[in-house]
Amino acid sequence: MKTVKIGICGLGTVGSGTFNVISRNQAEINARAGCNIEITQVGARRDNPACDTSNTQVSRDIFGVVSNPEIEIVVELIGGTTIAKDVVMKAIENGKHVVTANKALIAEFGNEIFAAANAKGVAVAYEAAVAGGIPIIRALREGLAANKVEWLAGIINGTGNFILTEMRDKGRSFEDVLAEAQALGYAEADPTFDVEGIDAAHKLVILASLAFGMPLQFDKAYCEGIAHIAPQDVEYANELGYRIKHLGIARRHDNGVELRVHPTFIPEKRLIANVDGVSNAVLVKGDAVGATLYYGPGAGSEPTASAVISDVVDLARMASAKAENRVPSLGAIPSSLTDRDILPISEIQTSYYLRLSALDKPGVLSKVTQILSDRGISIEALIQKEPAAGQEAVPIIVLTNIVKEQAMDSAIGDIQALEAVVGAVVRIRVESLD
Ligand code: HSE
Repeated sequence: MKTVKIGICGLGTVGSGTFNVISRNQAEINARAGCNIEITQVGARRDNPACDTSNTQVSRDIFGVVSNPEIEIVVELIGGTTIAKDVVMKAIENGKHVVTANKALIAEFGNEIFAAANAKGVAVAYEAAVAGGIPIIRALREGLAANKVEWLAGIINGTGNFILTEMRDKGRSFEDVLAEAQALGYAEADPTFDVEGIDAAHKLVILASLAFGMPLQFDKAYCEGIAHIAPQDVEYANELGYRIKHLGIARRHDNGVELRVHPTFIPEKRLIANVDGVSNAVLVKGDAVGATLYYGPGAGSEPTASAVISDVVDLARMASAKAENRVPSLGAIPSSLTDRDILPISEIQTSYYLRLSALDKPGVLSKVTQILSDRGISIEALIQKEPAAGQEAVPIIVLTNIVKEQAMDSAIGDIQALEAVVGAVVRIRVESLD
């Protein structure tokens, strides 16, 4: 059997998982690849006690892997967009195929990386970049190749979902759950990437490019995190029959594409509303197949390694194939990728949950409803709570019909300007996903 030599750059959470799963499942993996996959070299700044590398060449200089003439596939598991980008570009320049789990790198520099790889006749594979162990890249690129994808919506940050789930189920504090996610290796090196939605935006941009056949446009994505979600919003969501999930949503329209990440009310009866903990799920609506749902672990050492190794197996299978016979990086051949406008958030149309705090005086509610009706915004549900003991202000919760964000911005501005309204209006978008 032919041997395909690979080099792993980075031996952190995903690198160690990849090393261990390849070592443990060697027979199965080789049988599927039709060759003997050998980890010829590991480049890591420090050893990882989780891996027994005693029989593997380990270099502290990560670029030693990239310049090793024996290595055919470089597996980049460093993360970030500085050294990792140099490693990937150098590997391509040296004629090596690349496997990466790096969503930031693909979302922000993928167009440049894929162009360099095409010019050199090598492949760049990135299944692990989105939704950890779920093979969603392959599903979009190959499994759904017959479809015109209409929209997709995903819970694509495990840390954020873990935090929201623990807050809802156990009443734990945001900081406490985040610390646990970091200890378990789910969170990014900079966890603000998780809680501010940047990590999810990276992944959404990749999914949208695959779904709609367009170049990657990370700088156009709208991104809102979960840090402002208050316990009472979680409670009101339950009361109204919804769950709050941090969703990435991409939807195709004639005049452009919606690309947005934000906390979202979803009806609790949707399967995706019940995806909890570190799990991810992506719902894809294709015109031929209808709605399909992909579910599984979205982060963690071996789940992510599972996706990395699937790419290694794919590349090992076709290492000797002609470049034009390989599956294109973004699903469609580069010459057929179409630039599509990304719609500004003010142009999207959705329903809204609003929570405001108002003084308990006659006429306040009617002023609020007048402001909404002046803009053609219809109210689907309205709850006014009793004032808490010793409080003058009462919480008012409104669910609206579908309206343009621009109209809602203007309504919220006017509501906040009412004398009887205390503080800012909380707005969470609502998606029925039907
Ligand atoms: N920090 C990411 C998450 C890891 O929580 O989903 C997987 O990309």
